Amino acid sequence: MANPRRSSYSNTLPLTNTSETTSQQQVSQTPSHFTTSFIHFLKRPHAFPFLLSIFLLLAWLLFRFQHLNNNNHFTAYHSNGINKWEKANDDENANVRRLNSDGVLSRDKRGWMFNPVVAANDAGLYGVAVSCASVHVGQIRPGGVRGNHRHHTCNETFLIWGAETKFRLENPRVAKGYAEVYIGAEEVTVSSSPRGTAHALVNVDSLRTTYFIGCQDSIITYNSSNTDFKVWKDL
Ligand SMILES: *[C@@H]1O[C@H](CO)[C@@H](O)[C@H](O)[C@H]1NC(C)=O
Ligand SMILES: *[C@@H]1O[C@H](CO)[C@@H](O)[C@H](O)[C@H]1NC(C)=O
Repeated sequence: MANPRRSSYSNTLPLTNTSETTSQQQVSQTPSHFTTSFIHFLKRPHAFPFLLSIFLLLAWLLFRFQHLNNNNHFTAYHSNGINKWEKANDDENANVRRLNSDGVLSRDKRGWMFNPVVAANDAGLYGVAVSCASVHVGQIRPGGVRGNHRHHTCNETFLIWGAETKFRLENPRVAKGYAEVYIGAEEVTVSSSPRGTAHALVNVDSLRTTYFIGCQDSIITYNSSNTDFKVWKDL
């Protein structure tokens, strides 16, 4: 069995002849020699793993391409419908910006610090309270809920951190009528609830306390004429 293979191998070495030709010819002949020896190589049993890996690479590329195509197709298909918003960025729908990765927080071994006014203005949120006529600072213990109401006469911007917290914001563009996101215990977020939208903060952590600052751009005393209470029954 070794002999036929050996002889076929010697057939694949026409390149040795090129060393006797002039360098000019060598340049012009190299591609065709390369092709010939490559074809010979492919005919050899040794080429099988090589061909297999090429095949696998092509299969993988095809799969990736189809996957990409499906995703594009999905987006295009729903681009006019409400589902687009479900598939779009949840943070965007909930009007939330996570500050940890934004370079907004200055950090050292003592922990983080940041300018909340700059953070709120730079976050690209809608319905931001640009000035605070009224400020609330508070905590929410595990299992506690704050908000779940809708102010009709103020925009409210929140800074939230400290525990795993669910933030829910009324959003008619989302099928459920609201968008909600989970804020991790190590995350710091800025979010905004524009005038006339309901919001809720729920501490879903088993141990840690949620901390928040709420900035409202007009002074309101909560009553039934400016605020709807208990908007969501499931909270
Ligand atoms: C709330 O935001 C809206 C839109 O950005 C703005 O027109 C309004 O003046 C803000 N403040 C109040 C108290 O409505
Ligand atoms: C509710 O509070 C607002 C101030 O935010 C006040 O102007 C209004 O009179 C109050 N309404 C009732 C029914 O107490």
